[in-house]
Amino acid sequence: MKIVTVVGARPQFVKAAIVSKELKLLPDLQELIVHTGQHYDQRMSQVFFDELGIPTPAYNLHVGSGSHGKQTGLMTERIEEVCQRELPDVVVVYGDTNSTLAGALAAVKLHIPVVHVEAGLRSYNRRMPEEINRVLTDHVASLLICPTQLAVDQLAKEGITDNVSLVGDVMYDAAIDFSRVAGEHVDPLGDLALTPHRYILLTCHRAENTDDPLRLSAIFSAVNRIARQTKVLFPVHPRVKSKVAAQTFHQNVQVVEPLSYLEMLLVEQNASLVLTDSGGMQKEAFFFGVPCVTMRDETEWAETVQVGANSLVEADADRIHESVVNRLNRPPLIPSAAPFYGHGCASSQTASLIQALGHGSIIRKAA
Ligand code: UD1
Repeated sequence: MKIVTVVGARPQFVKAAIVSKELKLLPDLQELIVHTGQHYDQRMSQVFFDELGIPTPAYNLHVGSGSHGKQTGLMTERIEEVCQRELPDVVVVYGDTNSTLAGALAAVKLHIPVVHVEAGLRSYNRRMPEEINRVLTDHVASLLICPTQLAVDQLAKEGITDNVSLVGDVMYDAAIDFSRVAGEHVDPLGDLALTPHRYILLTCHRAENTDDPLRLSAIFSAVNRIARQTKVLFPVHPRVKSKVAAQTFHQNVQVVEPLSYLEMLLVEQNASLVLTDSGGMQKEAFFFGVPCVTMRDETEWAETVQVGANSLVEADADRIHESVVNRLNRPPLIPSAAPFYGHGCASSQTASLIQALGHGSIIRKAA
């Protein structure tokens, strides 16, 4: 059985790493990784392959940056060529990026069944490119692997009930698995001179924040106010690099290159708070019992907000500052046993389901 796995952006490397490990344990199964090239900087891509032992991509499509239409179009064309050459039994896509949508579109039009890992998530904000990518991918997938019960319920509301499986979150498995070894390989606290629980970890890369000058300036202004009280570590995504370079930050704001995954796990675990607009980091903060303030109007991971581990805050300087101060003054959270996100078996179940689809034990809607 042959699987083509399409990845392209940072969070997908993490998800594919943990599922690939499990796929390797199954007999008579070949996985070919196709890297679209959406993320191409060494610290956004290669470092993840090196650190997490992801198989070297069989194909790198070198699509790079561009408008949504150009990026998605080029990827679709090139993934189609790969699929025509390789004739996979299944194409696996992860999450919600342009690489996800391109992989799904290319495969489904060749009548190759699509597996969507992290299906059913919604922000209900159709201005987010990720939301469009998720909705469309879910509606063409043959097998929908969901991280949460809310995701399963959402798919049912959209009329998708066949071949929907709740397995838990593969990112939870990855966080647990790679945390065990992170300290043996990297020492970000030493390298960056950070004192545990004496800094806030900040990331900001969502288009809705970085491409809106008013929102971005409100975020930077809040960060400077927060930095008067505590150190802020800010690993900068390439999308926002030039805007960060043009900004004057308080001396307590430590601006650094993007961190590797293992570095990020350790830096998250030891932060006093995570301030972010990333989807994955909201959950990782929750897994590690670190409070999180999310600079977005909505979240796909509503469970973290419902239990009080995560606060959503609009991109307003006063609100962000107030929310961070409130959080820091509350008693510490207890690290979560992550009941919402499974028990660490999501990746092995995902691998078994992919195998079942490839072998025809699950009916292939697209074939
Ligand atoms: C993408 C995903 C988002 C995911 C994020 C993780 C889409 C629509 N969005 O956003 O869901 O959370 O990845 O990081 O697919 N760039 C570089 N070097 C790189 C990568 C990007 O310089 O290695 C710059 C380019 O100028 C590019 C910009 O960042 O134009 C944005 O990159 P893009 O691939 O559009 O998406 P992300 O913002 O990373």
